[in-house]
Amino acid sequence: MEKYFDVIIIGSGVAGLSAAIFLKESGLDVVVLTKEDNIEETNTNYAQGGVIAWKKGDSRENLVQDILTAGCNYNNLEAVHMIADQGPQLVFDFFIDKLGIKFSRTSEGELDYTEEAAHSNRRVLHYEDHTGEKIQQSLINYAKKIKIPILTNYIAVDLITNKHHSTDNQELYKPCEVMGLYVLDEASGHVKNLFAHKVILATGGIGNLYQHTTNPSSATGDGLSMAYRAGADIINAEFIQFHPTSLYHRDIKRFLISESLRGEGARLIDNKGREFMQDYSPLKDLAPRDVVARAIYEEMGKSGSEYMLLDIASYYRGEESLQKRFSKIYQTCLEGGIDITKQPIPIVPAAHYFCGGIKVDLTGRSSIRNLYAIGEVSCTGVHGANRLASSSLLEGLLWAKLAAMDISKKFLPIKKERFTFIPDWEKPDYIEEFDSLLLAQDWKAIQMTMWNYAGIIRTVKGLMRARADLNYFAHRIFKFYQSARLNKNIIELRNAIINASIIINAATHNRKSVGCHLISNK
Ligand code: FAD
Ligand code: SIN
Repeated sequence: MEKYFDVIIIGSGVAGLSAAIFLKESGLDVVVLTKEDNIEETNTNYAQGGVIAWKKGDSRENLVQDILTAGCNYNNLEAVHMIADQGPQLVFDFFIDKLGIKFSRTSEGELDYTEEAAHSNRRVLHYEDHTGEKIQQSLINYAKKIKIPILTNYIAVDLITNKHHSTDNQELYKPCEVMGLYVLDEASGHVKNLFAHKVILATGGIGNLYQHTTNPSSATGDGLSMAYRAGADIINAEFIQFHPTSLYHRDIKRFLISESLRGEGARLIDNKGREFMQDYSPLKDLAPRDVVARAIYEEMGKSGSEYMLLDIASYYRGEESLQKRFSKIYQTCLEGGIDITKQPIPIVPAAHYFCGGIKVDLTGRSSIRNLYAIGEVSCTGVHGANRLASSSLLEGLLWAKLAAMDISKKFLPIKKERFTFIPDWEKPDYIEEFDSLLLAQDWKAIQMTMWNYAGIIRTVKGLMRARADLNYFAHRIFKFYQSARLNKNIIELRNAIINASIIINAATHNRKSVGCHLISNK
């Protein structure tokens, strides 16, 4: 089956759906794909703390400075200026005025700005402690209202390019160009050709490559791997941000304890009740994330404990009740037997955000024609070596708009006859069924390798070992990929092993410790 669209957007999170709305309203024929059954199963949906927004009295210069300080001045200055100039107001124009999102307010009815680490101003708008869910729902509602088609259980397998797929040999002499994608329709089990004049990757992060992460299991970096196979430039892949405080619990996994708890007074303590952040930074508990995550890691090492504690019960200074301000965290912890109004919360650092990605410019264009990347899968350079809290929903939204404007401003369609040289997906001659236990074991091996050798603190020897181990796993995974009946798990596993290698290679090449890439000499 073949279909043609003006623009295909892969991903239904903040970046993908925002872009779809801008593009659809500019008159283009767009479609959104998600590999999940649930449109809202995205990183976006789990965002807690909030989104940086315009605030009276705040200044563009202060925001630029905070982003650069958190990012260790490794940032792309043009991109930082762009987000500081255009981002904060866009939250009002798009989220509040267009989508009608009602962020939390104070008892006087004013918008309630919260504080997060490394911000010099309280400039983060939030909806209690589940801002992402509110944004995700509002985007879906609006997208449905304006009739944007969203295809669920559609798993993008590979980008179609003239260079890799066209049977017209004249295409070899043209610049590499994306023309659509091969996508697995899980319901039918068929891989289809979906053709498009432009493709936007908005496929999110890579957290699931790590044993401990705040991300849902769908965060396997598919877009990164697809772009890499198509030949796109990837940058800053060594910079994986570890969130200092994910819940440490026997049964509850992948649950974040928002940084905004520290913004509202919470302090980190060790198992004896001693505060320790003053030993690591003058900003104490509100130091940038890389600093706090390393401090916790070091304290865990010193004390031999598997976790540290975060005390909000003793230090909360908000005006609303703790139960209301942090309703999701309160409920989830309570279900796990922890009453955050009475006792400290056990926490550990976990892989949280991918600061690197597909290299894009100020319009979201990648290094390959017709291919755009926005949101967490892309690297605009805004975050440099470490991301400032609550800046990524904003970046996803802004680059969605920038990419949509670029596409609609000078829409150049691909000549229809060029698509006729693209063959159908080639099925393997021989199909083998694989035991899911074998796949689960490969997943575990990748996650352990990444956690142990490409984690919070890295060593050259560890990275070398990781490279050798990943090469070994890759050999096996590619071999069975060739004869496997395609399904989501196998597609993700193939992408994961490629992404893990991209990260390890980048980390091996960058011998300078900076931001969330810390190389120890030990
Ligand atoms: P996502 O929202 O992750 O969406 C990815 C989409 O791509 C999904 O629809 C997925 O199904 C689809 N997809 C992926 N691969 C394929 C494929 N092969 N085929 C088809 N579809 C595919 N940032 C902030 O600014 N503020 C916060 O408070 C905040 N809190 C956070 C809390 C948590 C727990 C987490 C995990 C992240 C948080 N972040 C926060 C980061 C932020 O949420 C993400 O960076 C951002 O939401 C990413 O949005 P996205 O649109 O790029 O990707
Ligand atoms: C948090 O609420 O701590 C997450 C904020 C972010 O990742 O930007």
